[in-house]
Amino acid sequence: MKPLIIANWKCNPKSLAEAMKLFNLLSRGVKDIENVKIVIAPPFVYLPYMLNSKFILGAQDCFWDKGPYTGEISPEMLKNLGTEYVILGHSERRRHLRETDEMINKKIKAVLKSGLKPIVCVADLKQLNSLKEIKNLIIAFEPVSAVGTGNAYNVEKAKKMRKAIKCPVVLYGGSVNYSDNAKDYIGKAGFQGLLVGGASLDVRRFIEIVKRIC
Ligand code: PGA
Repeated sequence: MKPLIIANWKCNPKSLAEAMKLFNLLSRGVKDIENVKIVIAPPFVYLPYMLNSKFILGAQDCFWDKGPYTGEISPEMLKNLGTEYVILGHSERRRHLRETDEMINKKIKAVLKSGLKPIVCVADLKQLNSLKEIKNLIIAFEPVSAVGTGNAYNVEKAKKMRKAIKCPVVLYGGSVNYSDNAKDYIGKAGFQGLLVGGASLDVRRFIEIVKRIC
């Protein structure tokens, strides 16, 4: 299996023009790379502009239903648009939007039903064990201490977590940068890919990460 790299742009950048610039530069930078699967997960509003490109698209969240839910986006809408993956249960949503395990389980169920592929973020084994079904999920191990802090998780400790998570596809996320840690999480710790946040907004840095794990 090719390593899977998710570029999670979070709530960035601030305009469509900037989003397209970043997207086009990334496309050019990775155009000859075949042995890494790259998924771009921009904010919802930019998704339609990025269809039919080299990249597979992911959303950063979705709701568990359609209908009278002001402000929400359903899995079906994303699927019909051409999105393939959805990130669920990100620690920033658990923290700032009070997403609970119950809400995340409902989202997982709806996403699987729609045919989208859920990437479910867990910070520890407690969160992992709260998932009602783990079959067909991509798990992203994202320790809270490492997300957006610049303090990437110790590779040896990450390896132990990888062994404890009995799923075929597990990604590591949390302050992945190009210096050397990107390839260690795959080569040494045994993860199948990476969830890259901050560094995915920096074209040079992101391309370097992709090249290092090729
Ligand atoms: P980070 O974020 O790479 O900025 O730490 C990772 C993530 O939360 O997706």
